[in-house]
Amino acid sequence: MSKNRNHRQDIRKDIRKYGGDILRSDNFKSSAKNIQHSNVSVMKHSMKVAYASMWITRKLRLKCNKEDLVRGALLHDYFLYDWHDDDHRGLKNLHGFYHPGVALKNAMAEYTLTERQKNIISSHMWPLTFRHIPKCKEAWVVTAADKYVSTMESLRLNKLTKTERIRSRIK
Ligand SMILES: [Fe+2]
Ligand SMILES: [Fe+2]
Repeated sequence: MSKNRNHRQDIRKDIRKYGGDILRSDNFKSSAKNIQHSNVSVMKHSMKVAYASMWITRKLRLKCNKEDLVRGALLHDYFLYDWHDDDHRGLKNLHGFYHPGVALKNAMAEYTLTERQKNIISSHMWPLTFRHIPKCKEAWVVTAADKYVSTMESLRLNKLTKTERIRSRIK
């Protein structure tokens, strides 16, 4: 088995180990119907950020608390609404500023969070939310991973489906 494949499997195993209860929860699964960027749901986006965070720590050989990293990454966008909905239209432009606070409140209502996990969630939009600064390695990693994943999604550089690939060739 190739080294890269081993890495990918190890990361997925760690995400299931530390975030299995979150992944199986109804609320987390309900965010599959909320779109984050282009065609990617909030659920998928959060899983991608958890994966990218773990990948960064492996590549840079950072000694991070894996449990905090995985749980903070999975819950970083736990705002549980679709920010494209008409209900949020007036506040749409402010979503970037206030959703970390909503995510933290929702996550704290359901899970016992460590201080690191709280910091990961509240600071992931830094420097936009300039008062909420990442204060630990884990929070710096998640904010970087989130920006990378969000950019890829917004530019639609994530893997396109077969139909989308065909459509994009026709256009
Ligand atoms: Fe976010
Ligand atoms: Fe995000």
